[in-house]
Amino acid sequence: MKIDVVIIGAGPGGYACAIRCSQVGLRTALVEEKKVGGVCLHWGCIPTKALYAATKLLHQAATAPEMGISFAPPAVDIPALAAWKDRVVETLAGGITTLLTKGGVAIYSSHAELEAPRRVRLATGETLEADRIVLATGSAPIEIPGFPFSDPAVWSSDDALALHEVPRRLVVIGGGVIGLELANIYRRLGSGVTVVELLPEILATLDLDRRTIAGLKRSLTAQGIRLLTGVKATGIARAKAPSDEVVVTTEGGEPLHADRVLVAVGRRPNSGGLGLDRVGLSPDRRGALAVDAGWRTAVDGIYAIGDLVAGPMLAHKATAEGVALADTFIGEPPTGFSAEEIPQAIFTDPEVASVGVSEKTAREQGIDILVGRFPYGALGKALGMREPDGFFQVVADAADHRVLGVQILGAEASDLIGEAAIAVRNRMSLESVAHTVHAHPTLPEGLQGAAEHALGRAIHTANR
Ligand code: NAI
Repeated sequence: MKIDVVIIGAGPGGYACAIRCSQVGLRTALVEEKKVGGVCLHWGCIPTKALYAATKLLHQAATAPEMGISFAPPAVDIPALAAWKDRVVETLAGGITTLLTKGGVAIYSSHAELEAPRRVRLATGETLEADRIVLATGSAPIEIPGFPFSDPAVWSSDDALALHEVPRRLVVIGGGVIGLELANIYRRLGSGVTVVELLPEILATLDLDRRTIAGLKRSLTAQGIRLLTGVKATGIARAKAPSDEVVVTTEGGEPLHADRVLVAVGRRPNSGGLGLDRVGLSPDRRGALAVDAGWRTAVDGIYAIGDLVAGPMLAHKATAEGVALADTFIGEPPTGFSAEEIPQAIFTDPEVASVGVSEKTAREQGIDILVGRFPYGALGKALGMREPDGFFQVVADAADHRVLGVQILGAEASDLIGEAAIAVRNRMSLESVAHTVHAHPTLPEGLQGAAEHALGRAIHTANR
């Protein structure tokens, strides 16, 4: 069958690209071998957020006596919690499938491989031909020596999110985004959690300032999560049968006894099994495909987006690329966004969110900057919510006051970063943020307060 666009992979990159392609009148096919919605919807962003919300409720109930409200100790029905999380996922998956179908996108449930530059072969035996092929196959958890995912004691993030059990002791290998989010969830479900991070600092691969990381570490430690940095997990030894216990051996630390070991040491682009060699494409050492500013690979008519190409492995980055790529297909200038404009949100409690450059990076780049901060403890809304911990930080160019970056550590940081993302993308000034009337009492007043502080005209906190 001859169509206009074939998209391989129906994650946030692929399905958004498909919807936009069909919107602009292109005959579009979307091929997915697992589930429409991809990792983000089924084994990533969405189930984590459902479990994050549920376990935050446990924490709020346990600490409510501070407000004069007491509950009986909560009982957690793990299968029921897992079923609720699955219902959230299925609702969204149904919505996406409806959007695709209504838009006229032809969905194929099959593995797909490139057969030739303009031809895709499906495992079902069908062949799709199109002048444009978009590769959006995402990424998969990295397996490390000594911790095979085939070992029932070793979990990938998929296993952790399946929520079949709550281990008494969980060792998390990797103090990155996935490791910390799941450490937080399992700690609140009752596991004793130890995080083992190879580098001297957690979240070291992100552009976050020391103060932000230090604040997060304080909160996670206070919740009983043990954070071991500068320690390499090297393998697993089995304790004596019939116990399920394993011992994680380390370099730079003590052996760690555990019932389950979650490996979250990063993800690798899914570039294998795609038939790349048949069309003359080869991924780099990390498995990523090189593309130009229009997401074109080295082969005419073949494009790649999302986790398969360079940049942060984030759903919203993949979606933005998918939509922008579809626009280029009809000759619209690409919407265009720089790496700095892509916000990042980490769903630990407290949350961490950032956009633009950190204070450290701005200084390293030799930019003369203004920095302003505002504490959650000075926000009436935050105190009423019992969320006094954390702060807003804004970094701006001292010459023209343009907002270069924002970091937020605290409640709802993931939602609050939206306003900051608008400011960074649109090159807005500190004055634009500071002089915008913000509703009171609300959390976004914190960003306004940080901008006022940077300008030396803070009203609700002391100026330096
Ligand atoms: P990551 O790269 O964020 O963190 C992995 C960590 O594991 C690194 O700090 C690394 O130093 C450490 N490590 C590697 N080998 C080790 C060993 N042998 N022993 C101890 N530590 C070791 O990767 P992660 O957390 O797996 O996430 C993968 C991707 O998914 C990231 O790019 C992340 O941005 C994305 N993601 C984003 C989310 C969000 O935005 N909320 C949520 C989940 C994932």
